Amino acid sequence: MKHWEEYWVNTKNKAICEKPSVHIYGGTNYEPLASIGMSCFTDAIKDKFKEGFAVVDFGCGSGILANFISERLDNFTYYGLEPANEWGSSRIELGKQTFNDARVNFGFIENDYENIIKNNKIDAVILISVFTHLIIDDVYKVLKNVEKVFTYNKNASIVFSCFIQNNRKVGNLQTNINSNYYSDSYIKLQDLEVYCSDNNLKLRKHMDFIAMGGFKHEIFEITKL
Ligand SMILES: C[S@@+](CC[C@H](N)C(=O)[O-])C[C@H]1O[C@@H](n2cnc3c(N)ncnc32)[C@H](O)[C@@H]1O
Repeated sequence: MKHWEEYWVNTKNKAICEKPSVHIYGGTNYEPLASIGMSCFTDAIKDKFKEGFAVVDFGCGSGILANFISERLDNFTYYGLEPANEWGSSRIELGKQTFNDARVNFGFIENDYENIIKNNKIDAVILISVFTHLIIDDVYKVLKNVEKVFTYNKNASIVFSCFIQNNRKVGNLQTNINSNYYSDSYIKLQDLEVYCSDNNLKLRKHMDFIAMGGFKHEIFEITKL
């Protein structure tokens, strides 16, 4: 844990965030760790946060990204979406219970994603630590769906974090789910580059998100060419 605490101390995030956040999250073992990573992530993409920002948090967990956005913006719309399965439902329920804020909305990918991107000008679709646990073929499938955002706003961004070229097993952070997603597989930078080039997309590497013990957890942005 020491390393994470040091990272937290070192990040500029604390100095930037002057507003109180909309809620103090907690409850799962995963979240204290996620909160530190989340502060680093939001710091890395802070140039995207403009008043009026509309974001889909795709694979949102319990929605803690909304907390970090609320520390930076007064006027934003957040849509936190999860797959319509048992785990996703439990996350959405937790998100709904902990947030009581008109700017923060929750739903399911299968039911709500297409309506949200159609009916709102979404600036960014963000996937934090979703691809970290997917094999590359599933990453492609998710990207195909997420990319529909460009149909309605060609200037939107898809921002995601993932492990790139790790040589270690990706750990199961959520020990209470038995998921096939956690595997020895890792994403190769070249896979993302080829996918983007084949699909007329531009891939940009933001910065290292967290580099720790052999893991390189990085942030990428995809835009429409
Ligand atoms: C490690 S959690 C990250 C949650 C949140 N983004 C965060 O950083 O706190 C990964 C999330 O991805 C979701 N997920 C798994 N497969 C997915 C898929 N195919 N599409 C979207 N989300 C998925 C899981 O339900 C889980 O809540």
